[in-house]
Amino acid sequence: MTKVAFVTGGSSGFGRGFALGLAREGYRVAVVARRRASLDDVADEIRAGGGSALVCCCDVTDPDQVREAIARTEAEFGPVDLLIANAGASAMTRPEQLDASDVVALMSVNFFGVLYAVEGVLPSMLERGRGHIVAIGSLAGYGGLPLTAAYSASKGALHNFMESLRVDLRRTGVDVTMITPGYVHSEFTAKNKHSMPLVVELDDAVARMLRAIHARKRHYMFPWQLATLVWMGQVFPSAVYDWVVSRHRRDKHE
Ligand SMILES: NC(=O)c1ccc[n+]([C@@H]2O[C@H](COP(=O)([O-])OP(=O)(O)OC[C@H]3O[C@@H](n4cnc5c(N)ncnc54)[C@H](OP(=O)(O)O)[C@@H]3O)[C@@H](O)[C@H]2O)c1
Repeated sequence: MTKVAFVTGGSSGFGRGFALGLAREGYRVAVVARRRASLDDVADEIRAGGGSALVCCCDVTDPDQVREAIARTEAEFGPVDLLIANAGASAMTRPEQLDASDVVALMSVNFFGVLYAVEGVLPSMLERGRGHIVAIGSLAGYGGLPLTAAYSASKGALHNFMESLRVDLRRTGVDVTMITPGYVHSEFTAKNKHSMPLVVELDDAVARMLRAIHARKRHYMFPWQLATLVWMGQVFPSAVYDWVVSRHRRDKHE
């Protein structure tokens, strides 16, 4: 039976790659984001290749819009088998200009946006005893990186939420995969002026993530070299951690 995927952030970058890749594999794909023209381009490309796509113009920070997008997908394609909660945003957080509303805005996309999608698909997955929930976090979510307080916090909240969910959903037939990438070339990182160590090309990153999704990995961190450094950062004394990552802060200021 044809499977159904619901991909948020499907208008560009990872999400576009996931949507095209899954459609080539035979999934019916709902592509979800705010920019209609870009979503239409992705859907046209899928249909030109013989696949099925549904465009859902939706702001993931609005729970009603997310519910409506899921309901449309279920009505047109059937229940969602695979959710890829990928939509995300980033912004610098400068302590000297701290504005709580900026932090809330980022949490709304990166954390609550995922939560609304999970809330929407989970009941039907549990009822059917099968399904797969994938969230895209970030290596930046494992610790406080310089000038990234809001982004790191939003992804850290996401990682912990998904980990709890994964444990709680054991033996229900619903799998949970957390993907935490390092730097990848996309619109997301195009604005970065600072160095991006071990940056990965977009197509390569999408291919790696799709392999991890199909293998139903619980957790996939890449590239491994950066993931190892991040892991070491967790066990470094705080003074060493501060010294190492503050070099990156200077780089971001240049
Ligand atoms: N690129 C990297 O180096 C990197 C590294 C680690 C983690 N990530 C994570 O990977 C995910 C995808 O990033 P990317 O590199 O593919 O970036 P991207 O090309 O900028 O894609 C971000 C996607 O999120 C969508 N989006 C943003 N806000 C939204 C909202 N309020 N409602 C609905 N959709 C929204 C955007 O679509 P619209 O603008 O059309 O709404 C776009 O499709 C993000 O969660 C990001 O945090 C990226």
